[in-house]
Amino acid sequence: MIPATMRAARHHRYGDPDVLRVDAVDVPRPGPREVLIRVHGASVNPSDALFRSGRLRVGARLPRGTGLDLAGEVAAIGDRVDDLAVGDRVWAYRGGLPKRLGTIAEYAVMPAGRCTPAPAGADLADAAALPTAGLTALQVLRDALRVGPGDRVLIVGASGGVGSAAVQLAVALGATVTAVAGPANADLCRDLGAADVLDHTALFRPGPTSDLPARDDRLPAEGAFDAVADLHGAHVRDYRRLLDRGGRMATTATRAVPFALASTLLPGPRVRVVQVKPRSADLAMLARHVDDGALRPVVDRRYPLDQIAAAHRAVETGHARGKRVIELA
Ligand SMILES: NC(=O)c1ccc[n+]([C@@H]2O[C@H](COP(=O)([O-])OP(=O)(O)OC[C@H]3O[C@@H](n4cnc5c(N)ncnc54)[C@H](OP(=O)(O)O)[C@@H]3O)[C@@H](O)[C@H]2O)c1
Repeated sequence: MIPATMRAARHHRYGDPDVLRVDAVDVPRPGPREVLIRVHGASVNPSDALFRSGRLRVGARLPRGTGLDLAGEVAAIGDRVDDLAVGDRVWAYRGGLPKRLGTIAEYAVMPAGRCTPAPAGADLADAAALPTAGLTALQVLRDALRVGPGDRVLIVGASGGVGSAAVQLAVALGATVTAVAGPANADLCRDLGAADVLDHTALFRPGPTSDLPARDDRLPAEGAFDAVADLHGAHVRDYRRLLDRGGRMATTATRAVPFALASTLLPGPRVRVVQVKPRSADLAMLARHVDDGALRPVVDRRYPLDQIAAAHRAVETGHARGKRVIELA
């Protein structure tokens, strides 16, 4: 039985996390090619904080929702949906810009083509850690970096939402992973399969200009890596120096974009900027990796809906041990 109204996280103005409210709103109806999903979990991503704060003023007018991915159960289907049924366990990354309602709500409408079966054995709230972060990690490693067996891969920001998926996926692709993370998260990175972990608080000492920071003796030699996945954005220039000839580098971080653009004009490898795409075939591949044990969702903490502001504040610290997930069902 689908109720007439539901609770949904929204903000009526831009600002700090306290602008987020839990509103009572009508449950949306799916269009002909859409499904209504009873949301079990949805993740909070750094981009959600950008959209909420007003630093990125794109998408629907206010008030508007928050959250771009989910895992849950199909509650209703549109007339022209024939490959999903009520009760199916699905997950999805909607992509695009914020809308009037996001996925951090008791129910959410998704295009049917964006939904694929959730991993069979996974708890749905935990699984919600993966659609955005896992797709990003997969598309960085497989598409931008073409990581394959025997590659030596450096993953910067390895303990976060994207990083914790990337370490596992790089290992599944046959790479040897060196992780860069904070000291509290070295154990997590090793558990996920990293062969070595470097502490980002010790690698670079701040200097009068951070352009040429003093190097710690743990910083690997130039040529030590075949690929660098930058999931943080600091010291991109320095990490690029560690690549072997013919090495590949990609970043997901907005702050690395100026250097990535400049890299096309500099000697040495170009830094590719990755923007995650909502490809359902990739989501299906992630589900298979979870089902066969190569990938597990790493959840930093689950928050109830009424603690959405606390979850945004945690994301804004820039430190993470996996993903913050809002638990809804
Ligand atoms: N382009 C896209 O389509 C796309 C998609 C998803 C995400 N992103 C971006 O990708 C980045 C990662 O996202 P996320 O969800 O994984 O973020 P997250 O969960 O907040 O993770 C942040 C990570 O950065 C690490 N970190 C903090 N300070 C660092 C430093 N000085 N050097 C190296 N690492 C440091 C943290 O490690 P400790 O906690 O151990 O310190 C943590 O592992 C963000 O910039 C996000 O906006 C982009």
